[in-house]
Amino acid sequence: MTPQMDNATPHEPNASDEANTSDAASADPRRISRKGLLKAAIVASAAPLLAGGGVALARDAASSGGGALLAPTPQCDDGDDTTPPQMEGPYFKPNSPRRTSLVASGTPGVPLTVSGYVFGRACRPISGALLDFWQADTNGSYDMAQYAFRGHQFTGADGAFSLTTIVPGLYPGRTRHIHVKAQAPGGRILTTQLYFPNEPRNNTDALFDPELLMNVRSVGNGRQGTFDFVLDVAQTPGPSDPPTQPPTDPPGGTWAPGTSYRAGDRVTYGGVAYRCRQAHQAMTGWEPPNVPALWERG
Ligand SMILES: [Fe+2]
Repeated sequence: MTPQMDNATPHEPNASDEANTSDAASADPRRISRKGLLKAAIVASAAPLLAGGGVALARDAASSGGGALLAPTPQCDDGDDTTPPQMEGPYFKPNSPRRTSLVASGTPGVPLTVSGYVFGRACRPISGALLDFWQADTNGSYDMAQYAFRGHQFTGADGAFSLTTIVPGLYPGRTRHIHVKAQAPGGRILTTQLYFPNEPRNNTDALFDPELLMNVRSVGNGRQGTFDFVLDVAQTPGPSDPPTQPPTDPPGGTWAPGTSYRAGDRVTYGGVAYRCRQAHQAMTGWEPPNVPALWERG
């Protein structure tokens, strides 16, 4: 099979290149984001954010093994982590059919649905976003002659999408994955790949990125996966959204970004007293009312 590429976007010439190319994600030191710190705080403490935060916990739960209890699909990241890109690989074909199901009755393979939402940076859903999926069949082969296991769709008014397909098969050099291009109307194309939790090859595939893990559970004889995309699209927060920047007149108090706090330290913020739950260095965005893993009232 000779992959024929006639799209304009960069691509790799063959499958072994896709398998052997060094990990672009790891070569790029990940920004220390508020979300990342919140995750660390969740791990370090007893997950007090579960009730109110809901920050990407579904994927963390899925990737931590066991898979016994899956948290609800996260509503959105907090805007500082957009979905990371990945290489296109050699098997993309433009002009896929518009369809939400890539299977017909009798299509071999384990049934899979992938659903979720497409958000912009302000965590507001993006309607009319293009999602173009392509994947291997159950035997690990891509259809380069026709359009089997290829299809594009657009998110609804609520930013939701749903794909009906099968679990893609494995092929040499890669772990299990689904390719996708995502594009807000008039926006730049994000090319990336989605991964499955608890796959042995996730540990050896240099392209694998845990940020791109779907939350997958078994239902009957099939699987249900969820994944939410966050595209690098600026959005105007709605009146009900919390400000993403600190207010011009900061609420008074003794709490201050840049300060190293130890467990038990006490501060005030916005007229409320807080006690530090665990040692950390404060920074903007981690104001005590925003980070219950780090601060409790009292
Ligand atoms: Fe692939």
